[in-house]
Amino acid sequence: MSRTVTSVLVDLAAYLRDLGDTRIMDLFENDADRFGTFSRRHDDILMDFSKTKLTAPGMKLLVELAEASGLEKRRAAMFSGEHINLTEDRAVLHVALRNRSDRPVMVDGEDVMPEVRAVLDRVCVFADEVRDGSIAGSGGKPFTDVVNIGIGGSDLGPAMAAAALTPYREGGPNVHFVSNIDGAHIADTLQGLDPATTLFLVASKTFTTLETMTNARTARAFIADALGEDAVSAHFAAISTNLAATADFGIPRDRIFGFWDWVGGRYSVWSAVGLSLAIAIGSKNFLAFLDGAYRMDEHFRTAPIDENLPVLLALIGIWHRNVCGYATSAIIPYDQRLDKFVSHLQQVDMESNGKRVTIESTPVGLPTGPVIWGAPGTNSQHAFFQLLHQGTDIIPVDFLLAAEPHENLGDHHAKLMANCLAQSEALMRGRDEATVREKMAASGADQTTIDKIAPHKTFPGNRPSITFLYRTLDPATLGALIALYEHRIFVQGVVWNVNSFDQWGVELGKELAASLLDVVEGRTGADGHDGSTAGLVGYLRGMQKV
Ligand code: F6P
Repeated sequence: MSRTVTSVLVDLAAYLRDLGDTRIMDLFENDADRFGTFSRRHDDILMDFSKTKLTAPGMKLLVELAEASGLEKRRAAMFSGEHINLTEDRAVLHVALRNRSDRPVMVDGEDVMPEVRAVLDRVCVFADEVRDGSIAGSGGKPFTDVVNIGIGGSDLGPAMAAAALTPYREGGPNVHFVSNIDGAHIADTLQGLDPATTLFLVASKTFTTLETMTNARTARAFIADALGEDAVSAHFAAISTNLAATADFGIPRDRIFGFWDWVGGRYSVWSAVGLSLAIAIGSKNFLAFLDGAYRMDEHFRTAPIDENLPVLLALIGIWHRNVCGYATSAIIPYDQRLDKFVSHLQQVDMESNGKRVTIESTPVGLPTGPVIWGAPGTNSQHAFFQLLHQGTDIIPVDFLLAAEPHENLGDHHAKLMANCLAQSEALMRGRDEATVREKMAASGADQTTIDKIAPHKTFPGNRPSITFLYRTLDPATLGALIALYEHRIFVQGVVWNVNSFDQWGVELGKELAASLLDVVEGRTGADGHDGSTAGLVGYLRGMQKV
């Protein structure tokens, strides 16, 4: 008889009870090859999940959970272009953007690959011509600076990847990212830029987003005021699914790069939205980035559940969220260049799975997407690791670490690696009060001090983590890591039975902001808004210079 998600979750809860006060450390004592049994590889990416409480029966139940969720069918539906984004009646095919094979990808009876390849070719040519100066400003000078204007998925993906791949940027212009509607963002970015050598890329799936259109108009004035209205076309390009609106903005047809409604904004770095990244690192590296993601897609599509990194990552996430009850999950790259990785994954994960209604339009009945947070180590060790080690909540952590740095700088990397490994070991091992007391006594502390201080120095330990190791943070590895998390999110959405591909939850705030603009600018009163909002508007207006 086939199982249901609910019945497997019940078994998993019983399994957790049976584990009782088993400590992760004990599991290593009972199994000399626990590391080998509970780690997997894809290409040179190693995923070690031996520092979790899971044992073989738990893993077996998680595989049953995936089977019960109908994962294989839903995954096949995504790859074959079915309209799995039910609420928007769209296919979900970011995988087509990095399909590096000859396989056709059909949407509504049509192979989308010829168009995908045509846009990708244009992106590559444009990127390389901006880099070598054959595409230049209106006065003929090569571009020294490229400013991507976009927000959410039209910003976070390329901004994150361009920072991550800094060592591959040699020879290209400086690439900047402006997203916030706060004028400070564009003002600070334009500070010191020469209009004659600055190219703006306006990236917006809809080409209606308030922040992006406001920033784009300011950028347009920056060029027109300095170089004249005629210079605008040479200093702008646009990336959008809304080709009519891009043309209305005055961007010439050959500077418009399209994509399709089956690419979600947060999954669009692989499309022409990646143009800023392609300019930053050149087409060869951009294609390697796509290749890495493609290889992860193939692994996700074909590897058995028990060998499949994204599926296992998702299932362990479900174990922590729905069985152990952990409400948040931290991602800590020991890689300074992955500084924006967590922000990007916050959008991909929390906008995808921050849902409370199933695809059948009924309440979910299970906690869905956890809060995703984190920051690079070692900096985060000196900020919030106190709470990870001794706080009252247990927070599972994903650690990411490269074997090889790009810099040859003495022992920096050895120290970085030692710190990363130390943190996962400390989270698991902890330090019990008896050991603390012994150590304090050995260092000469008196009994009163020991009684008072020992509880504060005790670490509960037994806190789970997963570690990803890879050779170096090159374009292909970054592509694979992003695709890994994208597929994790897909699998979790399947288990929770939600639509991971819409984002209606951002709409209400946008509507209210539109009506409040009239209020803050004094065109209408605050009628219809609550007393707090009206009071806040009054206070702001009272403090503004007239
Ligand atoms: O408001 C949320 C959102 O729609 C995201 O999903 C998207 O990435 C972002 O806004 C930007 O949208 P656009 O690319 O259409 O400007």
